[in-house]
Amino acid sequence: MNLDFKNKVVVITGGSKGIGLATAKKFLNANAKVVICGRSANNLQEAVQILGSDNSNLKTVQCDISYTNQVDNLFNITLNTFGNVDVLINNAAPTSWGPLIDEIDEEEWLEAVNSKLLGYIRCTKRAIDYMLHQKSGRIINIVGMGGRGPNKRYLTGGPINSAILTLTKALANHYGSQGILVTAISPGPIDTGHHENILNWMAKEAKISYQEAMDNFLSGVPLKRYGKPEEVASAIVFLASQDASFITGSEILVDGGRFRSL
Ligand SMILES: NC(=O)c1ccc[n+]([C@@H]2O[C@H](COP(=O)([O-])OP(=O)(O)OC[C@H]3O[C@@H](n4cnc5c(N)ncnc54)[C@H](OP(=O)(O)O)[C@@H]3O)[C@@H](O)[C@H]2O)c1
Repeated sequence: MNLDFKNKVVVITGGSKGIGLATAKKFLNANAKVVICGRSANNLQEAVQILGSDNSNLKTVQCDISYTNQVDNLFNITLNTFGNVDVLINNAAPTSWGPLIDEIDEEEWLEAVNSKLLGYIRCTKRAIDYMLHQKSGRIINIVGMGGRGPNKRYLTGGPINSAILTLTKALANHYGSQGILVTAISPGPIDTGHHENILNWMAKEAKISYQEAMDNFLSGVPLKRYGKPEEVASAIVFLASQDASFITGSEILVDGGRFRSL
């Protein structure tokens, strides 16, 4: 496989932790110039320690994708630092598992839509501006199983993921002729810390222990374990590579077989 990204610029939203951080590491190892963003300066600082503080191919930008001016700043800094945007990984998102419909107020719905759905759209619009000039680019949207498998306790996240899948397909159809390939990856369950919150909810609801909730949950995963962030990152790097040059509009599930239907 050709996984050399020399002279390629990759922007990863939410690159300071979890799947985004593992993805940054893989791209840096493949010689890419990498920009990661996140809301917390501390998380970014910790990521720099992991990725290498003397790495001139790495740039961090404090940015909340819920705000257009901060996304503009992210892309302006990317261009000023590395001169281009070749790959955008839309990944940043809050956790949203738990409350039922009557426990979510309108403000929380608006906040959820504004961060993941509109956040991805803001970044996509800015990246496409540059990709159209060079008539090439890759946009990879990190979605999630809740986009296909509805769950009463994943109410804000699920519909937003469905919308991002629709967006992925529509943009792939629209921009394919201009060299911009748009794809999606649906991870889960991946061991990034989110599952603790989810298992706590499951344990509380079923009146069982945390361990029993975990055993029940993993019994529904054919590979009987959580995935590692690096296992999602490998699929992301593949979709950004030359070897994926005829793949657009597709969604890859990196879920240990958990999603059972076609
Ligand atoms: N882990 C799973 O099992 C799983 C399953 C399905 C889907 N996913 C999807 O995979 C993606 C990554 O999940 P993860 O598990 O790696 O999450 P994570 O470990 O919590 O990391 C999330 C990253 O996004 C950043 N972030 C959150 N909100 C942001 C915002 N508004 N603006 C900018 N950065 C923001 C966080 O940094 P700050 O907090 O400092 O901002 C952090 O760097 C998400 O889209 C998630 O929905 C994950």
